[in-house]
Amino acid sequence: MTMIDKTRGLWLLAAATTMFGAAVVANAQASERSVWSGVYTAEQATRGKAAYAANCAACHGDSLSGIDVAPALTGSGFLNNWNNTSAGDLLGRIQTTMPLNAPGSLSGKTVADIEAYIFQSNGFPAGELALPPSQPMAAGIKIGAKPAG
Ligand code: HEC
Repeated sequence: MTMIDKTRGLWLLAAATTMFGAAVVANAQASERSVWSGVYTAEQATRGKAAYAANCAACHGDSLSGIDVAPALTGSGFLNNWNNTSAGDLLGRIQTTMPLNAPGSLSGKTVADIEAYIFQSNGFPAGELALPPSQPMAAGIKIGAKPAG
């Protein structure tokens, strides 16, 4: 092997390592989904609005602002409660404990629709993909402050 071949081989190895590293970083960023990435569809939120009116509004209010002991499902208090959790956590909480007078009575799909409506009411953007109807499938979607930029 000449000196030139050897240098060239090392350079290629370094380049391949750099590219591999970049791919890993790109992947990590792609999997960082949050409520700011467009994680429900507008149609889903419209269905959710009707399901909310039928199943939740009697206690939480027509505009999600809360009544007596039933807390608001919009605004800073609600968002503080759920900061640094996931869409899956909220879906699981609703599905297992709400409606308070009939917990577990709603399908995953209906709960996801209602959650989409709650997200819309909190100012999170709609997108191309529907919010998934089960806790593990929605676990990778972070609820938190709007990212800078
Ligand atoms: C019969 C009244 C009633 C109904 C109907 C009801 N809730 Fe609730 N909800 C409550 C009360 C009271 C609390 C607070 C006590 C608790 O957490 O169990 C609560 C708490 C919650 C919380 C937790 C809020 C927080 O910030 O931690 C969420 C989320 C929620 N409800 C969503 C819903 C959704 C969605 C529906 C409809 C599918 C619904 N609730 C229907 C009474 C109700």
